Amino acid sequence: MNKKNRILAIDQGTTSTRSIVFDRDITALAVARVEFAQHYPDQGWVEHDAEEIWSNVLSTAREALEKVGGPATIAGIGITNQRETIVVWDRETGAPVHRAIVWQDRRTAAVCARMREQGHEALVRERTGLLLDPYFSATKIAWILDNVDGARARAEQGKLACGTIDSFLLWRLTGGRVHATDMTNAARTLLFNIHDCAWDDDMLALFNVPRAILPDVRTNSEIFGETDPALFGEALKVAGMAGDQNAAMVGQACFRPGTAKATYGTGCFALLNTGTRPVRSENRMLTTIAYRIGDETTYALEGSIFVAGAAIRWLRDGLNLITHASQTDDMATRVPHSHGVYMVPGFVGLGAPHWDPDARGLICGLTLDATAAHIARAALESVAYQTLDLMDAMREDGGGELSALRVDGGMSVNDWFCQFLADMLLTPVERPQQVETTALGAAFLAGLATGVWSSIPELEGTWTRGHLFRPAMDKAQRDSMVAGWHMAVRRTLSASV
Ligand code: G3P
Repeated sequence: MNKKNRILAIDQGTTSTRSIVFDRDITALAVARVEFAQHYPDQGWVEHDAEEIWSNVLSTAREALEKVGGPATIAGIGITNQRETIVVWDRETGAPVHRAIVWQDRRTAAVCARMREQGHEALVRERTGLLLDPYFSATKIAWILDNVDGARARAEQGKLACGTIDSFLLWRLTGGRVHATDMTNAARTLLFNIHDCAWDDDMLALFNVPRAILPDVRTNSEIFGETDPALFGEALKVAGMAGDQNAAMVGQACFRPGTAKATYGTGCFALLNTGTRPVRSENRMLTTIAYRIGDETTYALEGSIFVAGAAIRWLRDGLNLITHASQTDDMATRVPHSHGVYMVPGFVGLGAPHWDPDARGLICGLTLDATAAHIARAALESVAYQTLDLMDAMREDGGGELSALRVDGGMSVNDWFCQFLADMLLTPVERPQQVETTALGAAFLAGLATGVWSSIPELEGTWTRGHLFRPAMDKAQRDSMVAGWHMAVRRTLSASV
């Protein structure tokens, strides 16, 4: 029997890094997790220290491996990551030339607005499936090249490398031998043609990004390279990589057209599998690559909400209303309704379907008897309302009626939230037994490439429902709450949309 039948999944998210060892029956045998610093050097700017991320990846991976008795049983490593966040580093020293610019960063909003005015959005949408928004990587890369002394010249000479977090970690793990990314991460840069599955010369010219700094693009499930043996005591195969939302899609076994999942992390990202056909949205959803396994590319419609768990974090760190996220469950049930209080969490602008980088957060409907519990409840409700807006847009785009929405991520463990979500969506909400779906998806991708699992149907068979939430609220009450939300959103949007 093959001794190497476990996978180490590295989940490098926006606020924390996790390493989890899974065995074949998808049990998480060991988990190590660490939060890391968020840097806000200016209004709307968000940066991460790529060195800190690297050291967290190493320490959590080593801790998880130690808990299972070392690397001897590990068939491969799967990497999944916060998408769009960009690192530019020196090929010789491996040192980043600037802090990573995070997907939430709005510093290039004016550049995007100018490009929109110049009429570039139609071509960008056609080639990349995305929109001109500072959320994506291309304008962040150009910003680094234009703002770090000598960076553009060094980039053109091939002395710098650039990539999303997966690519930076792969480079470091393989001792600088492999500079590659996967299609799901490439598809978030604004530089990748999602139809040809290759870097797009017109996009490279438009965003002024030299091809020399970009990684090779691979599928999601293949051998990317081997780790430097000095890191974990033996060389391990990196055998799967995918952006975190795409990995969650795989972990939720959303392999069939018409299946959808929403992951509640820092933000919330809902992806609907559209099969081998890229569907163009009429409602400002994104068309993206869900995953590519073997020769077949599977596409998705995606709705991206920038603030979900981040709103709860703000209740804790910004307002000091709570000391732990789990308290919101209790607070929400303490009051019978939100009392007309709405929160629109536009802290970093609003994503789909509004795409308004200049919007800012709002709490409205306050009266003297409003309490902390109402605000906490409004924060939770806002995430469900935003999901509803995405689902409505996808339905209009021809996504049809969903039989159920699969949920995962931090907020999905909150029963009150899941029930409220089902009530607002008028659709059943399913929570799997294994809610670590992002890391699990990365493990599946690496496990398929190393023979731990043999096929997609086998992976589908591992999905087990933990809980089903059915819509239960009175329809008139629900409709009036949704109408209040839409009014609050209208008050939040900036003049620029
Ligand atoms: O597109 C950004 C997304 O990948 C970040 O995910 O889980 O860190 O909110 P998360």
